Amino acid sequence: MTVRGVSGARPGETSRDPRAPGAAGAEPEVWLFGYGSLIWRPELEHTAHEPAVLPDHARRFWQRSTDHRGTEAFAGRVVTLVPAPARRVAGVAFRIADPAPTLARIDHREKQGYQRRELVVHTRRGPLTALVYVADPHNPYFVGDEPAARTAEVIAHARGPSGDNLEYARELVASLELLRHELALAEDELAYEREILARAEALAGSRRRG
Ligand code: BEZ
Repeated sequence: MTVRGVSGARPGETSRDPRAPGAAGAEPEVWLFGYGSLIWRPELEHTAHEPAVLPDHARRFWQRSTDHRGTEAFAGRVVTLVPAPARRVAGVAFRIADPAPTLARIDHREKQGYQRRELVVHTRRGPLTALVYVADPHNPYFVGDEPAARTAEVIAHARGPSGDNLEYARELVASLELLRHELALAEDELAYEREILARAEALAGSRRRG
């Protein structure tokens, strides 16, 4: 199934290159692994993309956002990665068309505590080394091991310049449900993200009902 371009052409994709990731070619390839909003809104020029998994990590809504999905007065929650042996994170690897300006732009967009790392991700065509933005646990926006109930409460209420935090969680889970089929993930591999969204939806619904 191809919906919203996880497998087909995506917004920003300038041409599709049928070569396997990492195949010997003329120019050095720069790949970026998206596991958050980059999945559904890459906003970067890329020449190829591949559904991919990052091993030994878990995705968590443990990064405060005061500039996108929250405010200084009420910080929202966006995802980051934490080490998790034997777990894996589903996302999309993008081959960036024009790396220097693109990365500079993402560095600016993700200025609240994320650092770029080089990690190996696995695609259906084989492994590749990709840049991954990970929130340093020592950065002041890192929340740490937060109970799901609290995370959901924040997400149900937070809103920032990029929109409702609940919308962010909805977009994430919808994108992951599509990737789950493409990557043949086990049913329980999205349990955390689904739980957070279900709890946040319930809280937002009860607030609307008054
Ligand atoms: C992403 O994969 O969408 C992403 C997450 C954190 C920082 C930058 C990008």
